[in-house]
Amino acid sequence: MAAAIAIQGLTKRYVDVWQKQEVVAVNNLNLEVEEGEIFGFLGRNGAGKTTTIKMLLGLVFPSAGDATILGKPMGDIGVKNQIAYLPEETYFYDSMSAWDLLDFYGRLFRIPNPERQRRIKLSLEKVRLQPEAWRRNIRGYSKGMRQRTGIAQALINDPKLLFLDEPTSGLDPIAHAELRDIVGSLKDEGKTVFLSSHQLADVELICTRVAIIHRGKLLKTGSIRELVSGESTEVVVQGKALANGALEQLRSILPNIEQKDSQTLRILSDDDEKITAVIDLVRGVQGKVISIVPHKRTLEEVFVETVRQEDQA
Ligand SMILES: Nc1ncnc2c1ncn2[C@@H]1O[C@H](COP(=O)(O)OP(=O)(O)OP(=O)(O)O)[C@@H](O)[C@H]1O
Ligand SMILES: [Mg+2]
Repeated sequence: MAAAIAIQGLTKRYVDVWQKQEVVAVNNLNLEVEEGEIFGFLGRNGAGKTTTIKMLLGLVFPSAGDATILGKPMGDIGVKNQIAYLPEETYFYDSMSAWDLLDFYGRLFRIPNPERQRRIKLSLEKVRLQPEAWRRNIRGYSKGMRQRTGIAQALINDPKLLFLDEPTSGLDPIAHAELRDIVGSLKDEGKTVFLSSHQLADVELICTRVAIIHRGKLLKTGSIRELVSGESTEVVVQGKALANGALEQLRSILPNIEQKDSQTLRILSDDDEKITAVIDLVRGVQGKVISIVPHKRTLEEVFVETVRQEDQA
């Protein structure tokens, strides 16, 4: 299968004029996204996600490296008709309606009528913006309605490849699930989605593969199944003594210990020997082992672990 995006050595250095120092926002990134994938691009705030997307779109000039988008060099004008971008902050003309806005973008793409009208309707239906709102000013829209309008705008040119920067942030749980499923359904239409998101449960549900970046560097890439694979064991322990002293000792065996309350700890590891050492220690201080259960890792756990390991290295 052809690569929708192929990134080689992409780097962006910003010069911070106030601090007089250089910020490496993206550091020698190499990545391939196949056609038809929903690819999750994950990283903490400031990891370099938006900068990467902007370079791929030709909005930010790279310091080094290059990339191809749908087989063409990034920034290629001809490719613009086949791609779409939803920025993390959308600024709309408040005095326009969603319909007007989509009409405006449709004209930019030179989509003639009646095809343009048909596409506008299709896009607004797809994102389930209620029809009563289609002709109302965006000024009166809720956050969710604005986000739906943003995604509809990204669909107007029936793009092959979509760059969505945090499409589901700040939404109520129902709207959130709906928009997540809409993004997920783009795969069935054969579209490729490059999705930057902090919503790891969503990513786990809809993405085929993901990449984790940290301080501009690629730490991990792979299919969700690969990343979350490997059985681990979850142990919940309880005891007064754990609050003082013993907790430190436990952390020296396994750093990823989660404190549920002053007396209860949750410990997760795929290392049987360490699990045994932890249980011995807990019993040694008259603590109680509440449960020991096999545990399937979540993407969130993999993410936290990957980033922490890098910070400690
Ligand atoms: N125009 C700029 N000038 C200087 N530094 C910048 C500029 N844009 C981004 N940066 C820096 O580059 C780094 C990466 O920022 P970027 O916006 O790409 O992160 P992000 O992964 O999208 O974060 P978030 O999840 O918060 O959106 C940050 O350290 C940021 O401060
Ligand atoms: Mg960002």
